Amino acid sequence: LFAGEVEFLKGVVAMDGLPPSDRIEVCFAGRSNVGKSSLINAVTGRKAIARASNTPGRTQEINFFTVQDALYLVDLPGYGFANAPLPVVEKWQRLLKSYLSGRPTLRRVFVLIDARHGAKAVDEEIMSLLDRSAVTFQCVMTKTDKVKASDLEKSLATTRAALTRHPAAFPEIVLTSSEKGDGISTLRAIIASID
Ligand code: GTP
Ligand code: MG
Repeated sequence: LFAGEVEFLKGVVAMDGLPPSDRIEVCFAGRSNVGKSSLINAVTGRKAIARASNTPGRTQEINFFTVQDALYLVDLPGYGFANAPLPVVEKWQRLLKSYLSGRPTLRRVFVLIDARHGAKAVDEEIMSLLDRSAVTFQCVMTKTDKVKASDLEKSLATTRAALTRHPAAFPEIVLTSSEKGDGISTLRAIIASID
């Protein structure tokens, strides 16, 4: 699937700008700076198709990427702290929530969690929104290259505990490092298996 063409389609700033729901779609959600855009680059094998940066709040639109006209990969703005004016951030948050709860072809939301921190209250808020909307989500730990094995175990434990409270959660947690490439082929295989 990912050996084929991946293209940036468009950045969306309002619900009426969404492309037609004419194919399945998966998206990458998570706190600002958790590594959403970097993970899209890693999964597609395209170094900079999604813009990543060390400044929280880099991604400010809902960005649609097409994979072989078969699938949309969607990069979302982060939730939680972002380096942008409050009214702007609040506008993205509203858009994000409308998108996550109202997109008929959205098959799975990857909820990215920093391997150093585990699931936080804001992550659980998003998980609850997905529960209410009956949208399946799956947790992906990011930046595993930055964490000691013992700390990773702690993050996994808090995240697993959080998942038990969320009926829409997919039980398996994927461990990834966009930097080192760990878990990327696993994630690709998961995405390719979604129909
Ligand atoms: P926003 O768009 O601002 O919400 O951020 P994002 O979630 O898209 O994060 P982004 O991919 O821009 O990455 C944020 C920072 O983390 C960048 O400096 C990345 O280089 C770094 N980063 C992302 N993934 C990894 C990883 O697996 N390992 C390491 N060491 N750094 C990473
Ligand atoms: Mg981003």
